[in-house]
Amino acid sequence: MHFDRSRFDHRGLPWSDIADKGELHAVLCRQGSERINLMMHGATIFAAKIALAINRIRGRKKGVVLDFGCGVGRVVRFFGSKGWSVIGTEVTMEMLSAAHKFGLPQAALVALTDGVNIPVRDQSVDMIWVCGVLKYGLFKPGSACRIIGNPVDDEPSTEPFVPVYRDIAKEMYRVLKPGGFIVDVEMWVDAPPDVFIPDFEEAGFVTKQVRILRRYAGKLERKCQDWRNWRRLPPKLVTTAGQLCAAFRFWFDNPRSEVCDLNFRDYLFIWSKPQA
Ligand SMILES: C[S@@+](CC[C@H](N)C(=O)[O-])C[C@H]1O[C@@H](n2cnc3c(N)ncnc32)[C@H](O)[C@@H]1O
Repeated sequence: MHFDRSRFDHRGLPWSDIADKGELHAVLCRQGSERINLMMHGATIFAAKIALAINRIRGRKKGVVLDFGCGVGRVVRFFGSKGWSVIGTEVTMEMLSAAHKFGLPQAALVALTDGVNIPVRDQSVDMIWVCGVLKYGLFKPGSACRIIGNPVDDEPSTEPFVPVYRDIAKEMYRVLKPGGFIVDVEMWVDAPPDVFIPDFEEAGFVTKQVRILRRYAGKLERKCQDWRNWRRLPPKLVTTAGQLCAAFRFWFDNPRSEVCDLNFRDYLFIWSKPQA
């Protein structure tokens, strides 16, 4: 089956137009400050560390990880630095060019795909990592959560849309080894977490974790972002603050709670493929 890559454009603004905005701005918050982008990056790094931890608990310290929708390769570099072999897939050539520009680990391969089919053999991947990608195959154009940056300023989209979320779940089931995990970070979402689950469970996966990593209007995140003395902190420490906020959300925030704000949040999903 062949899929048309242009369908994966983000609200009519092609990903190709923003690929050169910088390692974080291109894939996180295009119009946001460096501080917000570093905080968001911290949340991603926390999730990637969770991904490594669940593999370590199962006795796997290294292996092959597929980064589905790898963008400019910021997490390809993270997993590569931890000794994993990484296969990155992308629908946007410009993102892959930027990934090469920022540098790729030796044991990494990146490939342009049609957005659904993954160019690897059945059951050949130990873990699948996804961050900020799958919602574009699930929510229709015009949904607030398809918009990265500032939803108020963006025009509604008229792009055509064919939902591929379910097809992607099935394809991931094909390539993942039995016993392997999908670790999926869904960023900037205003829908309840349960909309992400049925297609993965129908494909054969078992839902292991549903967590919150970040609330965009959360007091904690805002306090960290607005703190005046931030300016003096090196970027590494801001990223660490992002990791700490994500750790707090991961352990103490209820992803299904009604009480909190109706605003945007990042979810972490962990699905496992049962042993044969
Ligand atoms: C928000 S960026 C996230 C990039 C990267 N995962 C990260 O966290 O740095 C979304 C990326 O997913 C890519 N993308 C969207 N749909 C895709 C699909 N179905 N398959 C592969 N890449 C996709 C876009 O081209 C874009 O580079």
